[in-house]
Amino acid sequence: MKVIINNKRGSILDIEKGYILENLKEYGSLNLKNFDVSVDTFSKFIGKIASRITNDPARKASTKNTQQIMAGDMAMGLHLENGNAPYVPDFQFFYCPIAPKKLSRTTYCDGEKAFRRLSKPTAKLLQNRKIMYTRFIDEALWKKYFSTEFNKQVTSLDEVRPFLPENTEIIDHDNGKIEWRVRRYAVYNDPMSKLKVQAHSILAPSINYDIPRVTWSDGSLINPSIIGEIIESCEKETHPIDLEDGDVAILNNHRVMHGREEILDPNRVLFGGQGYL
Ligand SMILES: [Fe+2]
Repeated sequence: MKVIINNKRGSILDIEKGYILENLKEYGSLNLKNFDVSVDTFSKFIGKIASRITNDPARKASTKNTQQIMAGDMAMGLHLENGNAPYVPDFQFFYCPIAPKKLSRTTYCDGEKAFRRLSKPTAKLLQNRKIMYTRFIDEALWKKYFSTEFNKQVTSLDEVRPFLPENTEIIDHDNGKIEWRVRRYAVYNDPMSKLKVQAHSILAPSINYDIPRVTWSDGSLINPSIIGEIIESCEKETHPIDLEDGDVAILNNHRVMHGREEILDPNRVLFGGQGYL
């Protein structure tokens, strides 16, 4: 993770978009320190870097482009933000007004390094065989999700189906509930850096939704030894982000996964936002 320290405490809004993109392309993740930032300017900053904003529908909107992150107290496994949803944002942003004093840290894992830790056969397998994420989602949540992604009020699945990516299948269930099956590779070339990465949402149960099922694309179980290798290769490359009061972090959400330690510090405050290039 590249740390960028501003000596003059200039506004975060003075950072050039090109400078952020160049650094993100090279390093995959950035930690911005000592900038003048508030929830409001953080939100504007996201609007400056990303051409389109999205967010996690299960969280409450705090400002236009951000949500305060309150997804339970449990530790959270590594994942790409919305990595088990039909559309994966290009950027994940964090703003931490009050850093945690004890554990509760946000973690990250550079998928380029995690890829290099895989054995050749597993790397090859994951490049050639897609993973399937199956999730059950209540009516209110999927409506909110697609409304956000399509930037208009979505009220029925008929409005969604013609625009679904090829990798996504949606099955209707009772009471407006849907099941989506999203298929994608866990090892691929990251579009921004062009590097080969291991990046996915295999290791994270979702706190705000029913727990997703992770299988091969045909629904068959992934061998536990493969899962074991994925866990080990990722854990060895997982580090806490050294967030101090007022820090901002930006992750290339196709290359760098993030997670969280158990929340032991109730005073920690963290905002998140997502967007597209
Ligand atoms: Fe997340």
